[in-house]
Amino acid sequence: DWKMDSFVETTIAQIREKVGDGKVLCALSGGVDSSVAAVMLAKAVGKQLTCVFVDHGLLRKNEGDEVEAVFGPDGPYDLNFIRVNAQERFYSKLAGVTEPEAKRKIIGEEFIRVFEEEAKKIGAVDYLVQGTIYPDVIESGLGKSATIKSHHNVGGLPDYVDFKEIIEPLRMLFKDEVRKAGLELGIPEYLVYRQPFPGPGLGIRIIGEVTADKVRIVQDADYIYREEIAKAGVEGLGQYFAALTNMRSVGVMGDERTYDYAVALRAVCTADFMTADCAQIPWDVLSTVANRIVNEVKGVNRVLYDCTSKPPATIEFE
Ligand code: XMP
Repeated sequence: DWKMDSFVETTIAQIREKVGDGKVLCALSGGVDSSVAAVMLAKAVGKQLTCVFVDHGLLRKNEGDEVEAVFGPDGPYDLNFIRVNAQERFYSKLAGVTEPEAKRKIIGEEFIRVFEEEAKKIGAVDYLVQGTIYPDVIESGLGKSATIKSHHNVGGLPDYVDFKEIIEPLRMLFKDEVRKAGLELGIPEYLVYRQPFPGPGLGIRIIGEVTADKVRIVQDADYIYREEIAKAGVEGLGQYFAALTNMRSVGVMGDERTYDYAVALRAVCTADFMTADCAQIPWDVLSTVANRIVNEVKGVNRVLYDCTSKPPATIEFE
């Protein structure tokens, strides 16, 4: 695509000129937007860029290592990469908290606190990179209606960090254009086509209190679900994931009674994530996933499929 080709090259040249020998800081989430923005900056200014990746312990299985493989010292890019393993910190802040908005606030605030601490170690920076894309620009100009869920994004950082200016290389692009730019930049396809993942992560896919053991359950169940969807080649899904309900029920394993958690599977088809239809995943795929989850994930004896649309349900569970 020659147009994207020239957009990428021109933007990199412009950034290089603007930044000069300045210091640049980027909060990396592993999502498509921040990843594409980070790679553009890395290509423009190399080691003048520092990417901070906060692993809050609420990522999908292996996700932290996948981000590190791409952006860390063994990856293809020449930049400074800092991974903060803050799992314990987040789990202890979340202990005993069950209310969804309270959980969202804690995760969002703790995220900023961790990032701020890292930024202080780096010292004053000249530029902060943000993966803002065109729909974000439009949305923030429209004024928000009633808050259904308080959103946590890697975006809301500027007040907390000492910097001179923000660089937003993607602010003229729509999502599909960001993906094209990502491919143009040589970013791996699994990262470019990654499904959306909320800032509060698995914290809002575990109904009720978050514990390390529940994170393990939802990570393992979700991994199996994604593996089987990929194997079966199910297409057209906007988002699909496993969540952990707060419900335990009676089951039987061998001759033993069990009293374990129920995992819920969600899959939606959607154009804009404002409304969504429940996806009709083939029954044999669902039943394979259910069998594997109850057999392979300790602490689960029941698997449910969420067949509600949005509205009235939302895509995430909290
Ligand atoms: P809901 O659950 O509101 O989700 O139907 C709509 C879309 O938004 C994502 N989502 C978030 N994304 N920060 C994000 O960056 C958040 O706090 C957040 N909460 C929900 C959700 O995954 C879905 O794609």
